[in-house]
Amino acid sequence: MSDDISKDLSGRTFAVTGAASGIGLAVAERLHREGAEVVAIDRNTAAGPWTASITADFTDQAGFEHVAAQLPDRLDGLFNVAGVPGTAPVQTQLLVNVTAYRRMADVCVPRIDRGGFITNIASLAGSGWRNRAEGVVGFLDLDTDDQLAWIAEQGIEGAAAYPFTKECVIVLTQLMSVELIARGIRVNSISPGPVTTPILEDFRQTIGDTVIDEARAVVGRLATPVDIAAVAALMARPDIAWMNGIDIPVDGGLGAYRFARAAGKGEVNHGERAATFSGAERGFAG
Ligand SMILES: NC(=O)c1ccc[n+]([C@@H]2O[C@H](COP(=O)([O-])OP(=O)(O)OC[C@H]3O[C@@H](n4cnc5c(N)ncnc54)[C@H](O)[C@@H]3O)[C@@H](O)[C@H]2O)c1
Repeated sequence: MSDDISKDLSGRTFAVTGAASGIGLAVAERLHREGAEVVAIDRNTAAGPWTASITADFTDQAGFEHVAAQLPDRLDGLFNVAGVPGTAPVQTQLLVNVTAYRRMADVCVPRIDRGGFITNIASLAGSGWRNRAEGVVGFLDLDTDDQLAWIAEQGIEGAAAYPFTKECVIVLTQLMSVELIARGIRVNSISPGPVTTPILEDFRQTIGDTVIDEARAVVGRLATPVDIAAVAALMARPDIAWMNGIDIPVDGGLGAYRFARAAGKGEVNHGERAATFSGAERGFAG
C-alpha cells in the first residue's frame, strides 16, 4: 500500500465487524492508517492497534449484548463485514450474514450522530437481488424460525443460501437507508467479486474452481482485501454526503464483463492472451 494516505479520519471512531481476518481486518487497518480510532469486533480475537477489541459470536444473542456493553458512547460509523460462506449451516449463514447486520445497526445507531454512516459488505453473489426483492422485504420482518421455514419453502438449501443472504444484505441496506434518512445516517453496501481471503477456499468448494479461476482470468487477478478496504474507506470520507442507499460493486470489472458478454462484446485481451470464458457468466457466488 502506498504511504500517501491522508490522516483525514483522525478524531473519528468506527466499529468494524469481522476485523480478525480478511476484508474486515484490511478495513480496520486502512481506517487506522487514515488516523481513525477503530473498535474491532469478531468471534476471534482481533489483534491490532485498535482502540478496543471486542470478542463476540453473532450466532448468539448474548454476543450483541456483550458488544453493546463495550462500545464507546459515540461512533462515526459502522462497517458490517463479518460473514460466513455457503459451507456453513444455513442457520449460521442467516444469523451472521443477515441478522447480525441488522442487530449491529440497532446497537450502533443510537451512538451515531448526523453525518455518520453504516456500510454493509454484500457480494457480487447477491447481484440478482431484484428477482425476489418483494419476497425478501417481507422475509426481513420475520423472526429467525419463520425465516428458516421461508427459506426451506423456497427450496433454498446449503450453499444456495449464501447468494440469498447477500441479496438480503442489498435489500436490507436500502430499507435501512430510508429508515435512517431523517437521522442523517447513510447506509450503503459494497459488493466484492472474488477476494483472496480464507473463505475463498470455501467458495472453491461450493461453486468450483472453474468459476473463480475464470473470473480471475477475465479481470487479470483476484482482488486482495486491500482493494476492497480502499473503497470501504471512501465511505468514511466526510464529503461523501450524497451517496446513500446504493450497492457498489467492487469487482475489477467482472460485472461489466458479464454485461458485455451478454451483449456479444465479451472479448478480454490481456496482452497476448485473449480470454472469453463461458464459465464466468454462471456467476461468482462468493
Ligand atoms: N472473500 C471473498 O471472495 C468475498 C467476496 C464477496 C463478499 N465477501 C464477504 O466479505 C465479508 C468478509 O469475508 P472475508 O472474505 O474477509 O472472510 P474471512 O473469513 O477472512 O473473514 C470473516 C470474518 O467474520 C468473522 N465471523 C464469522 N462468523 C462470525 C460470528 N459468528 N460472529 C462474529 N464474527 C464472525 C470471522 O471470524 C472472520 O474474522 C463476508 O461478509 C463475505 O461474505 C467475501
